[in-house]
Amino acid sequence: MSQTIAVLPGDGVGPEVTRAAVRVLQHVRPDLRCVESVVGGAALERGLSPLPDEARALAESSAAILFGSVGLPQYDGKPLPERPEYALFLLRRDYELYANLRPVRVFPGLEDASSLKPELVRGLDLIVVRELTGGIYFGKPKEQRVEDGIEMAVDTMIYRAPEIERIARTAFELARGRRKRVTSVDKQNILETSRLWRRVVTKLANEYPDVQLDHLLVDNAAMQLVRRPGYFDVIVTENMFGDILSDEAAILTGSIGTLPSASLGTLGTPGRQFGLYEPIAGTAPDIAGKGIANPTAAILSAALLLRYSLDDDANALRIERAVENAYVSGARTAEIAGSTPPLGTGAFTDRVIANL
Ligand code: IPM
Ligand code: MG
Repeated sequence: MSQTIAVLPGDGVGPEVTRAAVRVLQHVRPDLRCVESVVGGAALERGLSPLPDEARALAESSAAILFGSVGLPQYDGKPLPERPEYALFLLRRDYELYANLRPVRVFPGLEDASSLKPELVRGLDLIVVRELTGGIYFGKPKEQRVEDGIEMAVDTMIYRAPEIERIARTAFELARGRRKRVTSVDKQNILETSRLWRRVVTKLANEYPDVQLDHLLVDNAAMQLVRRPGYFDVIVTENMFGDILSDEAAILTGSIGTLPSASLGTLGTPGRQFGLYEPIAGTAPDIAGKGIANPTAAILSAALLLRYSLDDDANALRIERAVENAYVSGARTAEIAGSTPPLGTGAFTDRVIANL
């Protein structure tokens, strides 16, 4: 029986890069049924909610979600439930996609595109494991109000020990298949949630004596990421710190358009987990619709989908190698082209497919 993949392209460059990823996915797995539905600003523009029932129903009947990006400037001032980003918020929350994996790799030949010195980023290979369904993104109260005539706003950072333990476990398990180092990032000199975080992670480390654990305060971690990025293997951290640090880690590669992500939850079994796969970059409204966006992140997200939701590591690796070989053979999109003639989104994707 053919499996369904929910394709939710969203806004900005989302549709262009997602189309590229679907082409690659269908090339290696023609048996998959890729079905599209509108979300985010694209849905709001049609008078629908950010996550329409149709998209939700499609997600529920699918093995995984291939997601583009959401956000449109005209909704910036609106409350969260009326903004495109609410689609992501609901998908993460309602399917309990708590484990956000953001692998950061520098492709050979791309070292010069980084804003850091090439020798600092050569061979860089780290992964940010971001807690995705807790912390300040979801804690209540979360509101704006007026008290005694003064406008005020509150967000709540809250963590329960089991939420910390399960994300830390994800990090330790991943480290076992890598260089066996976990760096846990918190702000325990100030935050109670961080003190709990550090205690729970430290205790769990006893179950993983083969993995080396260290702790960094988030401000120091932000600095070390640009000072000696090669030090890091697996970084595990709470939701908002992970949001910030993963953008920082991503740009070490020279282009945020190369970074994929997987958001995994409690549904399914190892290798057959329900998950949402998306580029970590945003909608890039300045280049949307021009056909020049880098589709690498979306294509690599499709590879992660094969690995974690369809138990198909062989095809995941095939795609990852094809992307790497496209770079090695000089294929470049505009933002990292330098003096080489840039390829558009479609032409770059052709090069990846030619390398499969
Ligand atoms: C990300 C994005 C989202 C987040 C936005 C679009 C809500 O920045 O996935 O990193 O903050 O989680
Ligand atoms: Mg972000």
